[in-house]
Amino acid sequence: VWRTPSAGLLAGRRVIVTSGPTHEPIDPVRYIANRSSGKQGHAIAKAALAAGASVTLVTGPVNLPDPPGASCIHVETAREMYRAVEAALPADIFVGAAAVADWRAEESAPEKIKKDPDQRPALTLVENPDILAAVARRGGGRPALVVGFAAETENLIDNAKAKLARKGCDMIIANSVRSEAGTFGGERNKVAVVTAAGVDPWPELTKGEIGERLIVALSKLLPGAAT
Ligand code: CTP
Ligand code: CA
Repeated sequence: VWRTPSAGLLAGRRVIVTSGPTHEPIDPVRYIANRSSGKQGHAIAKAALAAGASVTLVTGPVNLPDPPGASCIHVETAREMYRAVEAALPADIFVGAAAVADWRAEESAPEKIKKDPDQRPALTLVENPDILAAVARRGGGRPALVVGFAAETENLIDNAKAKLARKGCDMIIANSVRSEAGTFGGERNKVAVVTAAGVDPWPELTKGEIGERLIVALSKLLPGAAT
């Protein structure tokens, strides 16, 4: 029988993964979104399952099947994702792979906004909760490992290091959204893993391979892991 290299590495562990974009309503028919496909987040959830973990996947709107065996919670907005993550805690590992919308419309119109030649609608944006920072900064019940992503178009490693410190997490997966590997919607990804120990650039891999490699790396960092 073929066994994945990560088989059993997370047996008895609880993992929460966020994935996909969030949708922030403007009115009943319009929303603010981003280009996340959810492929990387879902691949991480699958890799955690293959490693024997009990997995809760909190996902925004994506065109992907629920990974069999995961407890999947479907949400739309950042605030719903935040509440779902809080409800899913505690966990040993939290991986924030979702592209959470940074802002939402201050007010979502109760009816469809109609065109008016005399008035352009003004959209006032307010900041969404930072789910990753909130999980990483928890007093009681903080997961042993809190992992975030940094999708950047420039200054990849510097921005990722700054995010690691600012959010208080243990690892940032830095991926250039301008890399040859594509990233948004593609099957492949090229990332660098940033921790307090330094920067580890990984070769270009499929998103599934990145998920497996990440799970192996995290299993070694968990307290109590054999070194
Ligand atoms: N994140 C989050 N909640 C938010 C915004 C981001 O949990 N409201 C998480 C993402 O899931 C990701 C990490 O934070 O793991 C970094 O997201 P990113 O957008 O790169 O960082 P920001 O802090 O939002 O900074 P900016 O968009 O300005 O680069
Ligand atoms: Ca952001």
